Amino acid sequence: MSESDTGTCGPCGGTGFVILEEGGAKRARPCGCRRVAHGRPAGAPEFLQAARIPRRYHDCEFENFDVYPGPHQLSLQGAKTRAIRFVEEYPLNDRGLLLMGPPGVGKTHLGVATLRGLALQKGVACLFCDVQDLLRQLQATFDRQSGMSELDLLQPVLETEVVLLDDLGGRQFSAWVEETLSHIVTTRYNESRSTIVTTNYMDEPKEKRDPSLKQRIGPRICSRLQEMCQFITLQAEDARVTIKRADFHRLPDRGERPRENA
Ligand SMILES: Nc1ncnc2c1ncn2[C@@H]1O[C@H](COP(=O)(O)OP(=O)(O)O)[C@@H](O)[C@H]1O
Ligand SMILES: [Mg+2]
Repeated sequence: MSESDTGTCGPCGGTGFVILEEGGAKRARPCGCRRVAHGRPAGAPEFLQAARIPRRYHDCEFENFDVYPGPHQLSLQGAKTRAIRFVEEYPLNDRGLLLMGPPGVGKTHLGVATLRGLALQKGVACLFCDVQDLLRQLQATFDRQSGMSELDLLQPVLETEVVLLDDLGGRQFSAWVEETLSHIVTTRYNESRSTIVTTNYMDEPKEKRDPSLKQRIGPRICSRLQEMCQFITLQAEDARVTIKRADFHRLPDRGERPRENA
């Protein structure tokens, strides 16, 4: 049977990517059929809308992620380099990214920049998911008056090619939280979909009294994420209290300041 009979794209075999050798390294370029499937090539406005990037993070790109000199320069540079490399190598990489570090160090900024790179350079369907919001909305579906069903809320998070789970572990651990997060993480793992995670909790906190990521999300999800993601620690000053950078990211038309809480 010919390619046209089966409907499978010849150049990419239906994967949406053509693999090229460049300087001895394998690189994946989006195939022409991928662009057709997604309509016209996505631009920034379409990306922001389709990926549901919150307004506060609309301008987050790799280009405006500063690596400023000082004790944290290496950490910032390392995290930025690994995120850029993730976009370049996608979809040949077998693991997503998990960015961990204290509030305000730029984890969400880097996560959004990664989604932007994937969408604009590779035509990948992406979704931003604020984990706390999702859990709240899922709980609201228990109330019969809620217009959304559990499936309406979960389906995009389970099925979008790349999802950013922002602020994982922010919610107090409970059996329901564990079950819900486990369903999301396990489904994405089973379907080999890349997941990017940000969290304020470390897998090995410096201070014994600080809760670990494992304590916040449960050992099952934590060990699954270790298989699914490269764990990257981000050490930096809290940009929300560093006036210079906070001013840089103030929303121009409303004069808003970056949010105070992580
Ligand atoms: N290295 C950086 N370069 C430029 N802006 C930064 C940097 N780090 C943080 N910011 C900005 O500071 C604000 C808080 O960063 P955010 O990514 O929300 O932190 P986190 O997710 O780690 O709590 C955002 O407006 C972000 O764009
Ligand atoms: Mg954040």
